[in-house]
Amino acid sequence: MAEESTTPLEPAGDEVLTGHSYDGIQEYDNPTPRWWELMFVATIVFSPIYAIWFHAPLQGRTLADQYQASLADNMRLQFGEIGDLTPDETTIVKFMNDPKWLPVGESTFKTNCVSCHGPEGIGISGPNLTDDNYLNVKKIEDIATVIRDGAKNGAMPAWGNRLHPNEVVLAAAYVASLRGKNLKSARLTEGVEIAPWPSGG
Ligand code: HEC
Repeated sequence: MAEESTTPLEPAGDEVLTGHSYDGIQEYDNPTPRWWELMFVATIVFSPIYAIWFHAPLQGRTLADQYQASLADNMRLQFGEIGDLTPDETTIVKFMNDPKWLPVGESTFKTNCVSCHGPEGIGISGPNLTDDNYLNVKKIEDIATVIRDGAKNGAMPAWGNRLHPNEVVLAAAYVASLRGKNLKSARLTEGVEIAPWPSGG
């Protein structure tokens, strides 16, 4: 069925046929158009420039880096409102009771801490943060110190160079706010029971 009706047509003008014939369809021996070849060469020339510009480990030019930079800018913009927070008792207690800023601490926690402490803070590989027992915390400001410097040789990582100092304080305020929820945890109670947080005001 395929081969029989292949009387080659006379090519128009100076067109050359390849001699291929499939189901009677013949093929001109046309070169790829110049614009196509130029595009092909252009992509080859472009790719190393693109790769070096965006992927060389220089200044952050990738979309992810730009996103991080915008996030940081936005954070600085927002933090302009509260200034530089000191990780002390008064500040942490204040923000523990601040409905506007506590969600910022919560989002820091949800972004960085839930892999070990669980979304509710009940603990996975890290301890339960919703009870009254603590390993490294005796006073409320110790929470900020543990977050900044880490604990147990990095089992609890240090966040001081990964988070804005204000984020450390706000995350500490959020962690402090989890205390007393006493959520059920698969982990055994760890550490010692400590005195209640000082009340705000
Ligand atoms: C890689 C797992 C991991 C991540 C991620 C992690 N932690 Fe921890 N965290 C731990 C472990 C393990 C401990 C217990 C350290 C110890 O035994 O002394 C701990 C302890 C703590 C403590 C002290 C609790 C206590 O009883 O003394 C606080 C507060 C804390 N983490 C907050 C955070 C916050 C806030 C973040 C996110 C910014 C975070 N952690 C992220 C593993 C983690």
